[in-house]
Amino acid sequence: MEDRGYRKMDVQERDYIQHLFGKHISRGQVRYLRCAHLDIYECNRKGCTVTDAVSGGKFFDCFSSAGCFNVGRGNPTIIAALEQALDNYDIGSHQILSEHKIRFAEKLSNLCPGDLKRVVLCASGADACAGAIKLAKGATGRNDVITMEKAYHGHEGFSLSANGKDYYKELFLPLMPGFSVVPFNDLEAVRKAASKNTAAIILEPVQGEGGIHVASQEYMKGLRKLCDELGIMLIFDEVQTGFGRTGKLWAMEHYGMVPDIMFTAKSLSGGVYPNGAVLYRDREPLVGYVEDNPAFHTSHSGGSDLGCIVSSSVLDFIVENKLWEHADKVGRRFKEGLMEIGRQNIGIVREVRGLGLMIGIEYKYEFIGALMADCLAKQGVWAVYSGNAPQVMRFQIPLTASMEEVEELLDKIRAAVKAMKVYLVFLLPLAKVPLFRMTLDNLKVQIPAFNLVRDMEELFFTYVLRK
Ligand SMILES: Cc1ncc(COP(=O)(O)O)c(C=O)c1O
Repeated sequence: MEDRGYRKMDVQERDYIQHLFGKHISRGQVRYLRCAHLDIYECNRKGCTVTDAVSGGKFFDCFSSAGCFNVGRGNPTIIAALEQALDNYDIGSHQILSEHKIRFAEKLSNLCPGDLKRVVLCASGADACAGAIKLAKGATGRNDVITMEKAYHGHEGFSLSANGKDYYKELFLPLMPGFSVVPFNDLEAVRKAASKNTAAIILEPVQGEGGIHVASQEYMKGLRKLCDELGIMLIFDEVQTGFGRTGKLWAMEHYGMVPDIMFTAKSLSGGVYPNGAVLYRDREPLVGYVEDNPAFHTSHSGGSDLGCIVSSSVLDFIVENKLWEHADKVGRRFKEGLMEIGRQNIGIVREVRGLGLMIGIEYKYEFIGALMADCLAKQGVWAVYSGNAPQVMRFQIPLTASMEEVEELLDKIRAAVKAMKVYLVFLLPLAKVPLFRMTLDNLKVQIPAFNLVRDMEELFFTYVLRK
């Protein structure tokens, strides 16, 4: 029997799709993926792996679309829930009451600690981020928001303003007023930035795109205290860290504390139907604000019936399989294996860090991130570096990964590091010279250089090896 979604694609068809993708969507994106051998066409999406329709090669998915596939690729239980839902439902009319919305909201809030019992239904992570910030501003009647360097909360109005990387923001200035950015894990910097005008402090308990930085216990406790003193809403972004990713159902559980507002998305979709949610405490001034302004945040697809049915089955799956416990156990072994690789390669690896199955390797130089992505791809491992920290490679494998799969993955990573060292014999001495290092770290140099190597490889395979 043919595997679900498998279809062989030949090189001519691939080239035509790349041409059309370049013509209608983005040539830059094609070149970016191609240079790291990541111009693959996912099929047979199952568990921890996908198959490239062109080469037939299997890829271990360490990216998980930045944390969307906690329940694994193509999870049959979730797909069955969606298929069954499609027999009777559509997205539903937004703002209309529905049993599926309420069943989902109840299930989700029952899984949240403390009095995080109230829900705003949203369509995506960025949408939920906007909902959370609007709620904090509306409830406090204040304007200012403190956010963290290297943070990532999305690419739209409010979420982009809360982003911690200047590059994305500079393209669209002026953004929302009143946002200030402070270093992560620096309580003193937050204290200095906070005032009676501060509506919210927003952060990811473990920064994902920022390069897997884990908030410290003292920092989190200090933030809670500061927010209580000044009446500021503490907002946690659990878009990547939620649903067992860090070895607890929610990352906030590592700190034994509850924010005023939390938002989440991504894995809530089960990888098959997008959904998002804001949870907030069942207390004033939050509740009063929402009761007075029920349409303060709404969209046609936020909390759709199909989305809520799928998300309910995702929550059931996670709870029934205690995925967070599994992530903790498997994550410890994976991290230990990566740390061992780090110890054996101290000239390349600066640090391995993370919680559960949210782990990052920080390299000594930024360009190693791009080189390693390429070397991993050649071993059948699909991993990318952090969007806001190119020197950090993220490993966010599905939480359904078995211990054997993790051992296999570690073998592939060891092989990739070994292959990379051949290039580094030349590149590491060059990187010691600041001018060369800046050139190597520059994407405008990396992309054409890697594409040129790729062109030469393809010519070699086509004309020399096939003769
Ligand atoms: C921590 C975090 N917050 C928010 C978002 C935005 O989510 P979405 O892509 O669904 O808009 C992301 C997406 O990568 C994220 O990683």
